[in-house]
Amino acid sequence: MRDFVIGALALVALGACAQQAPAEMTQAQLVARGEYLVNNIGGCNDCHTPMTPQGPDVTQALQGGTLIFAPTIPMPWAPVAPPLAGIPTHYTEEQFAAFLQTGVRPDGSRPLPPMPAFRLNPEDARAMTAYIATLPSADETAPQTPPSE
Ligand code: HEC
Repeated sequence: MRDFVIGALALVALGACAQQAPAEMTQAQLVARGEYLVNNIGGCNDCHTPMTPQGPDVTQALQGGTLIFAPTIPMPWAPVAPPLAGIPTHYTEEQFAAFLQTGVRPDGSRPLPPMPAFRLNPEDARAMTAYIATLPSADETAPQTPPSE
């Protein structure tokens, strides 16, 4: 009986915790979480960042990369991973976050392998998107041609 009461109390306590709305993350916290997810969990740099013998070139994070591996059997395959830094112009940030939850592009198509179809929860998708949006896009990092006189 005593165990039952303690158990019931524990359940009530858990319920009370569950009802507390999680504190809304600040933008800086969201970007920090996104950086962690992209760099430590998602492995996005392994394909979407130019590769060097030492690993992805982090000075060109998510600027697009040619894959250094290929399938050993014939299968649909995309040998190049496009730039993501700054969010590709054919996505809004909402569409990019939706893609990370479904694996489906805004136009209804799906990327070829080896792009994984991620099924992130809305918070993590929003965090990854917020971080990737902070990275300078390929166009911005390209050497600027001085205006001709
Ligand atoms: C194993 C390699 C690999 C990994 C890991 C990977 N990608 Fe990809 N990704 C690709 C390839 C290759 C394509 C291009 C597919 C195609 O052209 O059909 C792609 C396509 C995409 C696209 C579609 C781009 C467009 O123009 O529509 C997005 C968005 C994307 N990846 C985001 C990510 C994110 C974010 C991560 C990490 C969470 C990630 N990818 C991890 C290989 C990878």
